[in-house]
Amino acid sequence: MTDTKRVFIKSYGCQMNVYDAERMGEALAAEGYQQTQSVDDADLVLLNTCHIREKAAEKVYSELGRIRVLKEERKAEGRALSVGVAGCVAQAEGDEIVRRAPTVDFVVGPQSYHRLPALLERSRAQPGVVDIDFPAEDKFDALPGRTRPGLISRGPTAFLTVQEGCDKFCAFCVVPYTRGAEVSRPVARIIAEAEDLAAAGVREVTLLGQNVNAYHGEGPDGRVWDLARLCYRLSEIEGLARIRYTTSHPLDMTDSLIEAHRDLPTLMPYLHLPVQAGSDRILAAMNRRHAAEEYVRLIERIRAARPDIALSGDFIVGFPGETDADFEDTMRLVETVRYASAYSFKYSSRPGTPAAGKGEQVPEPVKGERLQRLQALLNEQADEFNRSMVGRTFDILLEKPGRREGQLTGRSPYLQPVHLSAPHAAIGDVMQVTVTDVAGHSLFAEPVGSVSAEAPRVAVGGAA
Ligand code: 5AD
Ligand code: SF4
Repeated sequence: MTDTKRVFIKSYGCQMNVYDAERMGEALAAEGYQQTQSVDDADLVLLNTCHIREKAAEKVYSELGRIRVLKEERKAEGRALSVGVAGCVAQAEGDEIVRRAPTVDFVVGPQSYHRLPALLERSRAQPGVVDIDFPAEDKFDALPGRTRPGLISRGPTAFLTVQEGCDKFCAFCVVPYTRGAEVSRPVARIIAEAEDLAAAGVREVTLLGQNVNAYHGEGPDGRVWDLARLCYRLSEIEGLARIRYTTSHPLDMTDSLIEAHRDLPTLMPYLHLPVQAGSDRILAAMNRRHAAEEYVRLIERIRAARPDIALSGDFIVGFPGETDADFEDTMRLVETVRYASAYSFKYSSRPGTPAAGKGEQVPEPVKGERLQRLQALLNEQADEFNRSMVGRTFDILLEKPGRREGQLTGRSPYLQPVHLSAPHAAIGDVMQVTVTDVAGHSLFAEPVGSVSAEAPRVAVGGAA
């Protein structure tokens, strides 16, 4: 028996938190920590928290209550358990966490987790350390590389943070406060990370940023590169077959990025472009800085460049002051755009945001009713989109074993899960398939050539 230490990382919230959790795991692996899926055999528990919507902090405190009991049981057995809180609740609440939950040994923010090993060490001598600085150094420079042998064992897809923070200050949103100002990583670092991932077998990267299409990183030529240029460069990396990016703001959807969707076969035809609301009055109150009509025109331009693109969005119902008429504008916008998938939420007041102090709160039952109607419409559109796939032929990336023996699950270019019979060794392959059936959000397919000649086939391609 070795005395390997084990860390259990629980991540809440967005894809960037998933990415951060992975990087924290790698930083700890360099210190001899292995990851475990069970809190029971962990020596270190790390909660990587989310602050975007209501009750996030309360959920963290109740989870910490359970962990406190576990820690006491351990103590009785003479074994230690370290407890850390990371992520956006850590950033927002800081010292308050160690005051309210003395079981917490350390608190670490989203910009300082490269100091996790040192922090862990310090907290052993003096529990209750808090590091939520936005340090001068770049955390990515201080983190270990991504492909040291034994450091990661992963599937063929990966997230890659290219941009963090947000300068948009939508009136409802905590992100500009928890993640800070918009910062883009230099192109060379991103390329190096993508090359490492490709060398480790990754075939698809999803570029992450709170406002990813505002990316403006320093290029190797000393110039500022935008996201489109970065995508062209990433497309040259051997082995990388697919590129995705999320999340985008309509104002930063530039002509060059739209052209990249037209020209780059590696850039997948799926776009998450939140609009939040369809009423100009509410959009203005949200500080979104565009009108509903401008969004609709933008979608038309994107579709002209890439006709088959699948659109996704985020919606908030019940923003302060939203009337029935405002809500009907949102429904109308959804009817006009037609989404392949979408996320929708009831507005929740977030402390410290401009909308939080506003009167005219929409009553809870009204929010509930609006959300139900909106989700019914969005689900109808998603079902229709999924059904329209039957008989179509496209490439999928085989990602993981399926639910049944002999089955694998992959993703369509439009991000839908696709199930088919294929050998385990095919994981990581890009395979041309024809869709035979659809159930809920999942598609079923067969490799091209194995479907009977009668099956209708519609090739999916770009505008060219
Ligand atoms: N209330 C409800 N939804 C919110 N979102 C962000 N802040 C709030 C809030 N205060 C939603 C937005 C955003 C998504 C990530 O979460 O729709 O795009
Ligand atoms: Fe929040 Fe997105 Fe608005 Fe930035 S653009 S403030 S991350 S909702």
